[in-house]
Amino acid sequence: MTISLENTSAAQNLVGGPPTGKAPLDMDGLAWILFGASAFQYLNAACELNLFELLQDKPGLTKPQIGAELGLADRANDILLLGATATGMLTVEDGRYQLATVLADLLKTDDWQRFKDTVGFEQYVCYEGQMDFTESLRANSNVGLRRVRGSGRDLYHRLHENPQMEQAFYKYMRSWSELANQHLVEVLDLSGTSKLLDCGGGDAVNSIALAQANPHIEAGILEIPPTAPLTEKKIAEAGLSDRITVKPGDMHADEFPTGYDTVMFAHQLVIWTPEENTALLRKAYNALPEGGRVIIFNSMSNDEGDGPVVAALDSVYFAALPAEGGMIYPWATYEESLTKAGFDPASFERIDFPGWTPHGVIIATK
Ligand SMILES: C[S@@+](CC[C@H](N)C(=O)[O-])C[C@H]1O[C@@H](n2cnc3c(N)ncnc32)[C@H](O)[C@@H]1O
Repeated sequence: MTISLENTSAAQNLVGGPPTGKAPLDMDGLAWILFGASAFQYLNAACELNLFELLQDKPGLTKPQIGAELGLADRANDILLLGATATGMLTVEDGRYQLATVLADLLKTDDWQRFKDTVGFEQYVCYEGQMDFTESLRANSNVGLRRVRGSGRDLYHRLHENPQMEQAFYKYMRSWSELANQHLVEVLDLSGTSKLLDCGGGDAVNSIALAQANPHIEAGILEIPPTAPLTEKKIAEAGLSDRITVKPGDMHADEFPTGYDTVMFAHQLVIWTPEENTALLRKAYNALPEGGRVIIFNSMSNDEGDGPVVAALDSVYFAALPAEGGMIYPWATYEESLTKAGFDPASFERIDFPGWTPHGVIIATK
């Protein structure tokens, strides 16, 4: 005898998608959170196995065909396709598999590789350290750093001791910046700027984009010495060594170089405590001429403290891993630091960027 559990919650499949915070959380949503790490592993495996590219090239493949193409044993293929369809990444009809529309659309764009680099960052940089999230909350410090080999005082000072992690990190950092810096280039009027200081500029991805869009500007990149050679290399590859120079140094310990009329913090003030941010912004204020501007470009959470969800989820990494302080702060927290640093609140400009990442920019003028 078959007992039907139709219309009871036990019989429902997890087809509703993860919770959004917009509707009351139900049991399916709670189960999504419970098994969220497993949902991510399906995404990561599908990316590493190039399952999505396969179905982009050959839509409508059957399960045995996919298994043969990916070189997976039947049971392994069953698991992968169970997860990929149950989470909604693939659809299956009459035994033929297709990409979900969101993936099919994303794969047609340059953002696909950027998305994949973000998946790689989650897997190879974030996951392990995030196991110490609770301890990090208790200690109000980045306890997860203990899982990263090396003796550097923060994640950035340990990356060169972990070459694979360093590669995943800067690949992601470039991609994460590129997902949003097209909007930065669009909204940032640099017609009155001649020299831009990019504090903690990473591999120069944002300075390169701004310099390419504004041929009259020069940029200096303040970066820690172990990362500076990578920064130099990327600037040279972009053919911009005559306009972008690297200033190896420590933004916390050293005074900021003068002679710059714009100071940019890109994905930088999410790392440090509000007090450290105020100190950095004060240094920027002191180094700028009258009328000079500071630019804060990164993800932002809302001032109500309840979203957006990507800002909340990304904050786990900033709490557990890179440095002692940090989170995806609300806009207002930066504005408070800017005010304490000496900038006039009347000059503040907030620009929220479109797209699925919670990026935005705050511009303040001295
Ligand atoms: C999250 S990444 C952002 C990179 C780049 N701004 C971007 O948006 O792609 C932070 C960068 O700040 C650099 N950094 C960390 N601590 C620093 C310090 N004390 N002085 C200078 N740079 C630092 C790191 O090496 C890293 O490249």
